[in-house]
Amino acid sequence: MKQIIINGGKTLTGEIKISGAKNSAVALVPASILSDGIVKIDNIPDVSDIDALTETLEFLGSKITRQGSFMEIDNSSLINKEIPKELSSKLRASYYFMGALLGKFNFVEMYFPGGCSIGARPIDQTLKAFKLLGADVVEKDNKYTIQAKKLVGSHIYLDMPSVGATINTLLASVKAEGTTILENAAKEPEVVNVATYLNNMGAKISGAGTSEIKIIGVSKLDGCFSEVIPDRIEAGTYTILGALAGRELKVSNIITDHIESLLSKLKEMGIPIIMTDDSLIISSVSTLKPIEIKTLGYPGFPTDLQQPLTTLLTQCNGLSVLEETIYESRFKNVAYLNEMGADIKQVNDHVIYINGPTKLKGKEVVATDLRAGACMLLAALIAEGTTIINNCEHILRGYENIIEKLSNVGADIKLCEEE
Ligand code: EPU
Repeated sequence: MKQIIINGGKTLTGEIKISGAKNSAVALVPASILSDGIVKIDNIPDVSDIDALTETLEFLGSKITRQGSFMEIDNSSLINKEIPKELSSKLRASYYFMGALLGKFNFVEMYFPGGCSIGARPIDQTLKAFKLLGADVVEKDNKYTIQAKKLVGSHIYLDMPSVGATINTLLASVKAEGTTILENAAKEPEVVNVATYLNNMGAKISGAGTSEIKIIGVSKLDGCFSEVIPDRIEAGTYTILGALAGRELKVSNIITDHIESLLSKLKEMGIPIIMTDDSLIISSVSTLKPIEIKTLGYPGFPTDLQQPLTTLLTQCNGLSVLEETIYESRFKNVAYLNEMGADIKQVNDHVIYINGPTKLKGKEVVATDLRAGACMLLAALIAEGTTIINNCEHILRGYENIIEKLSNVGADIKLCEEE
């Protein structure tokens, strides 16, 4: 087990350059299976979720070369075989092998995906879409066998705009016979990134980024070059950090539109932000106004920034109300924040009240999941004294070079192996 140890209270200044989006890259890498040529992807983040996916691709026979953030994938020797439980359950994004292998071979056999323990996270919408495209789904002891004689374009309406179901539907329908119309699709930028990537291979997808996506099936997809978009959740996390502890902290290589919902809330709290084309500069201020906020699908406020934002809400003058509408178990950070000195009341599975401002003190805490880990990290950086964050493998799954990026702007932070 790894630990992050932080001596808090330092003012952070300088520049943090944002990496490629984890939640895009984790779809682009498995989606390479659909191409008959060689796929080249740039701006891949160096995070452990990507390692888990390349391990699975290599298990299936892919040849992968990686140089910094550049990855080349050659799937010409790939064999479609069962993905064992230990690989399937390593992360949530393994479920993109479902759509990709089904789309390419009309057959896939793998287990229920893993991922952060933040709620039930069913995959019923993905399976519904596969069935509407003509696939037969058999589930036994968490193992899914999904096959189709042929996939045929269909009219699919998702019960909720699920990111996973939207991307999986793109993957499974891109080579289907005929046209697929996907309604109530997720509008997240990661969906657009995947659609652009598939179009670069020769797919005919339009409407990605809106709630209705049209996919005209094609018989062949070629090699391509694509880039991963900047990570809006990493950008948001460091922007929140700037509001907590920054002195002209620059967050660069971002698409500011992608974090508009966060920026508007920071403005409401009274935090001035200087914007340039692809970066922003942010400093902490002495008094912050409390806010009410609710998580929603894009372009609403992202659930993945809810936990990091909670740390900032502990520093507002008065009562903030936060409603989490996407997941039913995404408040595991609250108990640890309270141990550090916060005054947060959990009303139910979806609502917390945060009373501030409260001084935070260094403690030994746990990163219960990726974004809870980010929340604890931000708290540790402003706390008085030393904080030890256990289970920080969760954080390393999603934030590239986090120790180096934070040290470079003045944080006192190190990564250790727990004894
Ligand atoms: N849902 C269903 N049925 C489904 C699919 C989803 O009920 O078939 C529900 C889920 O239980 C959840 C909600 O719909 O309550 C949203 O799920 P969605 O499918 O949109 O999420 P996901 O694809 O599992 C991705 C990200 C998450 C991020 C969500 C929402 C990846 C690998 N994961 O998950 O990222 O929270 O979209 O934006 O892309 C993270 O990075 O920390 C993270 C958890």
